[in-house]
Amino acid sequence: MQLPQPFLVLAPMDDVTDSVFRQVVASTAPPDLYFTEFVNVDGLQSPGREKLLPKLQFTAQETPIIAQLWGKHPENYYKTTLELKEMGFAGVDINMGCPDKTVVKNGCCSALINNREAAGEIIRAVQKAAGEDFPVSVKTRIGFSEIDLSWPEFLLSLKLNMLTIHGRTTKEMSKVPVHWDVINQIRELRDQLSPTTLLVGNGDVLTRQEAMEKAEEYKLDGIMIGRGIFEDPYVFAQQSPWPDMTNQQKMELFQRHIELFAQTWQNNERKVHTLNKFCKVYINGFDGAKELRERFMAASTVEELRDTLLAVMAVAPLGHLD
Ligand SMILES: Cc1cc2nc3c(=O)[nH]c(=O)nc-3n(C[C@H](O)[C@H](O)[C@H](O)COP(=O)(O)O)c2cc1C
Repeated sequence: MQLPQPFLVLAPMDDVTDSVFRQVVASTAPPDLYFTEFVNVDGLQSPGREKLLPKLQFTAQETPIIAQLWGKHPENYYKTTLELKEMGFAGVDINMGCPDKTVVKNGCCSALINNREAAGEIIRAVQKAAGEDFPVSVKTRIGFSEIDLSWPEFLLSLKLNMLTIHGRTTKEMSKVPVHWDVINQIRELRDQLSPTTLLVGNGDVLTRQEAMEKAEEYKLDGIMIGRGIFEDPYVFAQQSPWPDMTNQQKMELFQRHIELFAQTWQNNERKVHTLNKFCKVYINGFDGAKELRERFMAASTVEELRDTLLAVMAVAPLGHLD
């Protein structure tokens, strides 16, 4: 996998960055690297597997792409990593950052920050299956209740290929500003302990320019952008056209998104609620946008959503909305 320096990554976001939305982003302004949503290895290695496989679906446009895993049992990470290698992924990432209460209660994701033994077992199982040529990465936070540099130090001792740091603790959720100073300290640790591990900073970056500035200031290899894509689907562009686009053009992009969703998930693999909430991205910033969004949110099928959009676009050529 060849990446520029610095490189930009589209963050994994569950129920958001599926293959369809990644294709939309690939068509507007592609990042240098994609992640899947997090996928549970214990589910993948159970009879319920079929239901989870759509999360691992991707097209050639969304590459290079890393599959993100979470779960409990090292042997399921091992088996899944062997499968990912066959599926054409560029690498595997282990989620050690999700703060969701149910997940944490079950000892998974960011709960592993406080359970180094289990974290080490999982990483070693993935590394064993990955072998020499399949990159292994971890995405995590800067501590559980408190900022805790012994955690990245531990991770760096395991010689990961990449480490992504969301600069908040689990307890902080998304409620406080990102601690970029701590990300910088972790980069210094990386320089000392594991210089070949690529370090990616994440949290609250809203523009490409900001990403480039952060990478330079903190000497990071890459920057990951998540929610910034909701503010601007062209966030990875050198020069985003989004602020100058008409409401009609934005709705046309929504229309493309809906069509692609309908084509891709023909067997109802994804629920319509994962699609209609995107109306916030595309229908925004003009009088009546809120009321219009309410109509989209009420749609209970993709067809209904598509019809609503077509009706809106036909009735009001949206000139008056611009
Ligand atoms: C709706 C949503 C779903 C998310 N799902 C995941 C996920 O599946 N895996 C993961 O590692 N992080 C997930 N995250 C966290 C993001 O990847 C990212 O770390 C976080 O949003 C901070 O970055 P940002 O400020 O650029 O959005 C999710 C975030 C959001 C908002």
